[in-house]
Amino acid sequence: GLGYDDGQIDWTIPAVYIEDAPRFGYRGMHLDVGRHFFSVDFIKKYIDLLAVHKLNTFHWHLTEDQGWRIEIEQYPRLTEVGACRDSSMVGHYGAQTYDGSPYCGYYTQDQIREVVAYAKERFVRVIPEIELPGHSRAALAAYPELGCTDGPYEVATTWGVHEEIYCPKEETFAFLEDVLTEVMELFPSEYIHIGGDEAPKKQWEEAMVAQAVIEREGLADEHELQSYFIQRIERFLNENGRQLIGWDEILEGGLSSNATVMSWRGEDGGIAAARQGHNAIMTPGHSLYFDHYQADPDTEPVAIGGLTTLEDVYAYDPVPDTLTQVQARYILGAQANVWTEYINTPNKVEYMVYPRALALSEVVWSSEAGRDWEDFLRRLPARLQWLDMRNVDYRPPDSR
Ligand code: ACM
Repeated sequence: GLGYDDGQIDWTIPAVYIEDAPRFGYRGMHLDVGRHFFSVDFIKKYIDLLAVHKLNTFHWHLTEDQGWRIEIEQYPRLTEVGACRDSSMVGHYGAQTYDGSPYCGYYTQDQIREVVAYAKERFVRVIPEIELPGHSRAALAAYPELGCTDGPYEVATTWGVHEEIYCPKEETFAFLEDVLTEVMELFPSEYIHIGGDEAPKKQWEEAMVAQAVIEREGLADEHELQSYFIQRIERFLNENGRQLIGWDEILEGGLSSNATVMSWRGEDGGIAAARQGHNAIMTPGHSLYFDHYQADPDTEPVAIGGLTTLEDVYAYDPVPDTLTQVQARYILGAQANVWTEYINTPNKVEYMVYPRALALSEVVWSSEAGRDWEDFLRRLPARLQWLDMRNVDYRPPDSR
C-alpha cells in the first residue's frame, strides 16, 4: 500500500544500480510573475516540482509592462511605482473589461536570495530575466526620463505588446547597468536573460535622441539600433563574467558575439543561431507554451489561445532534423514557458503546467529513441497519484 503521513510517503527502494544521464544540459521551466505575481512559498513549491522531474533551470521572468517584481536598492521607485497597476483585464482580451482593482507585488532582495538558495539546494539554477528594451512600461512609469517620449507612462493594465520602450540614451544604459549589477549580485547564474522580444520601433523612429544614436554609430535602421542596444548590454554582462540569453528577436540586426538565443517563434531562431555557431534553447510556441489550451477551448478555463496537448509536448524533439550533427550540439536543451495573463492563481499555474511538465521532463532527459508515448501513458497514473499527494492541482488527462 501507499501508507503515507502528512503527504510524505515512506518509500522503500530496492538496492539497484542505475546508469542514467540527461540528453540535454538545459532543462527548463519559465514563470511570468509580471502579469500575475506569485508568492515565495509558491515559487518554492514550483521549484520543488522542477527538481523532482529533473528540470534543472527555473527561468524567472521578473519584469513586465504590467509590473516590476524585483527590489532594486538604487532605484526604489521601480517597486514603489512599478510593482502596482491600477486595474487588470478580466476575461479574454477581446472583451476589454477591467476589474478596477489595484494589483501589486514584488520580491525583496532577501526573498530573492532565499529562493536562489532554496533552488541551489535542489540543484536548480535560477536565471533571472530583466526585459529590455521592450516590455518596460512599469520601469518607465517609475523613471519616465528613460523613455523616448514625454509620456506620461503608466504601469500597463492591458495585455499585449506596448510601444513604450527604453530610449537608447546614456542615462538608460547607466540605469540598466546599475540594475544588472544588483541582479548579478543576487543571482550566481552564468546566464542572465535580457528579454529582447517584442520591442516596437515606433518610438525610436520618432525620437531625435534615438535617431542621433543611429547616426553616431553608423547604423542602418532601428533594427540595428536594437542590436546595438543588446550588444552593449552583452558586453557589460561579459565583462562581469556572465552570458546573455535573449529571445530570438536578438538575431535581428545582427547577433552579439556570445549570445544564447531562446527560440520562441517556432524553431527558426534556434536553427539560425545553431547554424551561426551560437547556442540556442528551444521554447517553440507550438509545442512548449504552457499558457496554451490543453484541449478544446470550449471545455477549458480561459487561456491565451493555441492548443498544445500533453501528447504534443511528448512528441516534441528539441533538435530539428535540418541541423547537421555539429550544428545540433549548439542546442543546449529546451524549456516550457508559462505566461500568466490568464493565469492568476497558483492552482491555475499548476493546472496549466501539470501534467505537461511530466512530458517535457522526458523530452529533455531521455534520448529520442528512449521515448514511448504508450509507455508514458502507462506510467502516468502513478505520477498523477504522486501529484495528488503533493496537492498539485494538475489537469486530469483526457480518458481514452
Ligand atoms: C514571448 O513569448 N514574447 C517571448
